[in-house]
Amino acid sequence: MINDLYWFSCCSFLLVFLCCTVLFLLRLKTKTFHKLVKEEEKKLPKNDSIKRSQDFYQLMNTRRTVRHFSKESFPIDIIYNIIKAAGTSPSAAHAQPWKFVIVQSAEIKNRIREIVEEEEETNYKKRMGKKWVDDLKFSKTDWVKEYITDAPYLILVFRQVSAIGENGKEEVNCYSEQCVCIAAGRLLTAIHYAGLATLTSTPLNCGPPLRDLLQRPPEEKLTLLLPVGYPLEGCLVPRLKRKLLKDLFIEL
Ligand SMILES: Cc1cc2nc3c(=O)[nH]c(=O)nc-3n(C[C@H](O)[C@H](O)[C@H](O)COP(=O)(O)O)c2cc1C
Ligand SMILES: *[C@@H]1O[C@H](CO)[C@@H](O)[C@H](O)[C@H]1NC(C)=O
Repeated sequence: MINDLYWFSCCSFLLVFLCCTVLFLLRLKTKTFHKLVKEEEKKLPKNDSIKRSQDFYQLMNTRRTVRHFSKESFPIDIIYNIIKAAGTSPSAAHAQPWKFVIVQSAEIKNRIREIVEEEEETNYKKRMGKKWVDDLKFSKTDWVKEYITDAPYLILVFRQVSAIGENGKEEVNCYSEQCVCIAAGRLLTAIHYAGLATLTSTPLNCGPPLRDLLQRPPEEKLTLLLPVGYPLEGCLVPRLKRKLLKDLFIEL
């Protein structure tokens, strides 16, 4: 009798223990805990902030879009660092809805160029109105995209529209456009800070064929194609004026 009772309590205890463990593990799997850590003290003296904000503006003001690239290469570690910098961007619910594809292979660059040029020729000749073509005249661009094969690296920025959530179901990444815009801005800034140049391009209608070529999944949408390299020696850029400070903002 006592023996029976003993076994009964042992078994129920074990059962309860097992159930609790399973529940706890399930909870752990469905909920990601972010441990809180102390934010480092980074407060700067105000005079330093003034100096740094001026210096940063001056550096950014020297960035120009370049449309002709030298074939001169550079260590891929620079590209990794640039992408790491982009990866420090904020994102809604920390979804980090971006993926960067680095292309160094001449063969893949050739394929990308073929795809982009074919679409662009149709854009210029058929899809776009005269105004669009005229508006672009200042930058002397057409459908021939030498920069795609000249630049030593291409970075293609993909936006992850959705992702497999913690419950195993596909979930939309909220505000993924805004998140990727921010990360792309950092990417451009990091490229410039590293002393390299790029051309911000949004290859119209090339998303699906390029996604297939680069073997990216359907939930990833191509946002930007960026050649990264040194400007071709002696290459020209249009003389442009940027908005004056007074036209950039209103103050209330
Ligand atoms: C979303 C976006 C798309 C662009 N697409 C092209 C493009 O297809 N071809 C091109 O030559 N420049 C393109 N540009 C570059 C702009 O023409 C350039 O940024 C603008 O003229 C200002 O010059 P800056 O970048 O030298 O300051 C694009 C820029 C952005 C932000
Ligand atoms: C700001 O002020 C501090 C203390 O007065 C000084 O040590 C520092 O060099 C100043 N920084 C700049 C950029 O002038």
